[in-house]
Amino acid sequence: MKRIFSGIQPTGEIHLGNYVGAIRNWVELTKDYDCIFCVVDYHAITVEYPTDEFKKRVIETALILIACGLTPDKCKVFVQSNVREHTELTWIFNCVTPIGELERMTQFKDKSKQHRANINMGLMDYPVLQAADILIYKAGFVPVGEDQVQHVELCREVARKFNSRFGELFPEPKALLSIAPKILGVDGAAKMSKTLGNYIGLLEDEKSMWDKLRTAVTDVNRVRRTDKGNPELCNIFTIHKAFSENQTLLNVDRGCRTADIGCIDCKKLLFTNLKSELGPIRERAFSLMKDTDYVIDVVRKGASDCSAIAQSTMTEVRSALGLFT
Ligand code: TYM
Repeated sequence: MKRIFSGIQPTGEIHLGNYVGAIRNWVELTKDYDCIFCVVDYHAITVEYPTDEFKKRVIETALILIACGLTPDKCKVFVQSNVREHTELTWIFNCVTPIGELERMTQFKDKSKQHRANINMGLMDYPVLQAADILIYKAGFVPVGEDQVQHVELCREVARKFNSRFGELFPEPKALLSIAPKILGVDGAAKMSKTLGNYIGLLEDEKSMWDKLRTAVTDVNRVRRTDKGNPELCNIFTIHKAFSENQTLLNVDRGCRTADIGCIDCKKLLFTNLKSELGPIRERAFSLMKDTDYVIDVVRKGASDCSAIAQSTMTEVRSALGLFT
């Protein structure tokens, strides 16, 4: 069975972009693949973070993954720093990765602008750790949102460089995109993101979800209710596509173009569908919050299973490198 690996940072609330861009697809893929999902805490420390809350955030992130359906009968979920071999392989990959490739990474450039006072080595090395995450399990596929495709391309290059220098050991993994690989924020301008604060949280209560949705930017050219809109230019329509049936989409598309329905009508329909899909996830998440010991057991077992795979890969890597062991 082909293996899949993907990861998510424990940097605060998981949002709709993470859910439709990645997590929902992960749940689907567990039917056909051997799947490993990771809470990437070492990636999160490349920027400032509250150390006293970190453990809680890590467990909460794992909890949400489980609530979304990534249960231990379907896949492995673990915390990156609990499998030490990820960072060991990163060092080895550092020695085959050209600095120039890392300097041109879009996310590195963006984060360097956002964190001018702390442009640290980890920020630059971030994609190499990501390559180690994937390749230590020899995963063939990496389901991610559009913003991570460049990192997966770099991972392929790292695998190529390693293989040509030390012998064929790693596959060249392919990125898998979901049906909604890029969701914009409620500002309708930038990618929905935790750091930009333009997000709708997966566990947000219905009132605050509706407040954000109600005021979210739609087609900017549609100023008055009587103006005809263009769904292709509307981020709300993109989100609709991820949550609504075809017939609803056809009605909304037609109604928007003819001004038969207004943006609020369209948002109400979306809100109904959002509630029915996210409601059960919220319920499961809130009941897991009363039983975090269960979540801890799941990630500990995940780490122990993943350690066995990672250790076996490292034995091959050390031998390929000619290390004294
Ligand atoms: P992270 O934590 O930023 O995001 C987790 C996943 O959510 C996707 N995503 C989105 N998709 C659509 N629209 C959006 N607005 C949106 N925002 C986020 C991301 O593309 C991602 O798939 N570097 C990675 C974590 C990582 C990783 C890995 C991923 C570490 N190691 C190995 C894959 C394989 C990250 O920061 O994701």
